[in-house]
Amino acid sequence: MVEQEAARQRPVKVMGISGSLRGGSSSLLALQVALDGSAALGAQTELLDLQELDLPMFRPQVPLEDCPDSVRLLLRQVREADAMLWSGPAYHGTISGALKNALDYLEFLNTERPLYLTDKVVGLIATAGGAMASVNTINAMAHVAQTLRAWMATIQVPIGPTRDLFQNGELKDEPTRERLRMLGRQVVRFVQSRQAR
Ligand SMILES: Cc1cc2nc3c(=O)[nH]c(=O)nc-3n(C[C@H](O)[C@H](O)[C@H](O)COP(=O)(O)O)c2cc1C
Repeated sequence: MVEQEAARQRPVKVMGISGSLRGGSSSLLALQVALDGSAALGAQTELLDLQELDLPMFRPQVPLEDCPDSVRLLLRQVREADAMLWSGPAYHGTISGALKNALDYLEFLNTERPLYLTDKVVGLIATAGGAMASVNTINAMAHVAQTLRAWMATIQVPIGPTRDLFQNGELKDEPTRERLRMLGRQVVRFVQSRQAR
């Protein structure tokens, strides 16, 4: 009861993971717009850029204590988050290796109680060069999020073709920007409504 009251009194924490290692990444830009939507509702936002994190490949037999600090940072931020936004590029019709590798590290949460991402909400964003692959990528991410026991935001944001929507390092399409902000707001409202119960 005391814990629930404390959770209600602190800002909702939303953590974004961007799944592209490309400079000027469109999925990173999209994620920033969604996080702005969360921040507009008073959420505390954190962006984990995999390019900066530079995670090694996940190896199941390497214990956490032998992993670099970047892995502990990832896990700490995931643990502390009430909500997560995953945003990545479509690679060959599905999730990028870099994002999947980061998500593989969540296997370290298999001994936590609650397990994995239980009680957290995940919102999904994908960008693609074509029109279809971002939808498939979102579906692939959804399989991972469900397997890790997360709640899913009902708004999903598949974005493409990127050359029509992004110009000079900016997302120019206002309906897409608004959908991203809506997603950012939705995950915050989801957490708040669960805390209010
Ligand atoms: C290895 C690779 C595979 C890709 N595969 C696809 C694909 O199957 N379908 C598609 O529409 N775009 C594909 N693309 C294009 C990217 O999805 C698109 O450029 C995306 O916006 C990149 O995201 P980023 O800017 O965040 O890196 C691919 C790009 C790369 C580098």
